[in-house]
Amino acid sequence: MKPLENRTALVTGASAGIGAATARALSQAGARLLLAARRADRLEALASELEGAVALPLDVSDAEAVASALAPHGEIDLVVAGAGKALGTGPLQEGDPEDWAEVLQTNVLGVLHVVRATLPSMLERGSGDVVLLGSVAGRQVYPGGNIYNASKFALNALYQALRLDAGGRGVRFTTVDPGMVETEFSLVRYRGDREAAEAVYAGMTPLEPEDVADAILYAVTRPPHVNIGEVVLWPTDQASTRDVHRRG
Ligand SMILES: NC(=O)c1ccc[n+]([C@@H]2O[C@H](COP(=O)([O-])OP(=O)(O)OC[C@H]3O[C@@H](n4cnc5c(N)ncnc54)[C@H](OP(=O)(O)O)[C@@H]3O)[C@@H](O)[C@H]2O)c1
Repeated sequence: MKPLENRTALVTGASAGIGAATARALSQAGARLLLAARRADRLEALASELEGAVALPLDVSDAEAVASALAPHGEIDLVVAGAGKALGTGPLQEGDPEDWAEVLQTNVLGVLHVVRATLPSMLERGSGDVVLLGSVAGRQVYPGGNIYNASKFALNALYQALRLDAGGRGVRFTTVDPGMVETEFSLVRYRGDREAAEAVYAGMTPLEPEDVADAILYAVTRPPHVNIGEVVLWPTDQASTRDVHRRG
């Protein structure tokens, strides 16, 4: 029997990067996948690859959309809250309030909406896993990180709050905090400027989305009494959010 057989897993941010890799890893481990993000075509393509998977196009910043999309799908045993983004790298005092709102609504409120829609039923059943996609940016600030840093620091606080408010009732909480991972993240941050996005990883070897998926899979396949709480993964070439070793 596969380790996640008979479990239903919701992955947000499943249309790209870490979320898509995590969905594949959880599916290979036997879970039935609910795939959430805004781009329906990407979700449908992934769903057609993974046995029993269902595409749920939704915007996590819309609480009602999250609740109504999940309602027909019954009990969810495992949540990976991966939907997230950064916009821009400029100084805080020059930031655009609309960008701030979008980042905070996705990275913080979006996670809360997903947790609100799934955690009560896990607590009633006395089991489940909630995995938050944090970041080393939620542990160390860096120049130009400002609102993204604030969103990931907030997520770390929410992880700690969940352990206190919902602890001891059979549900496990995990924050997985990677350093640099090569995904569409930088392309989104630089608003489609491919050259700027590629320069982020120049001369260094970043993590791959599969590396993060592997850490998530490890956390959720431990015995029920073991809660892997915090996983911090750095590329070997990255010493801190401000120090990256580049060759050439
Ligand atoms: N890449 C890194 O270096 C890195 C490092 C540490 C942590 N992280 C975190 O890892 C998570 C995944 O990022 P990634 O690197 O895999 O980036 P990515 O390739 O850009 O993927 C981001 C995912 O989030 C989804 N998303 C964005 N806004 C959404 C919304 N409002 N509603 C629903 N889904 C939404 C996107 O799908 P749609 O556009 O289709 O909605 C996409 O599937 C994020 O939380 C990010 O902060 C990334």
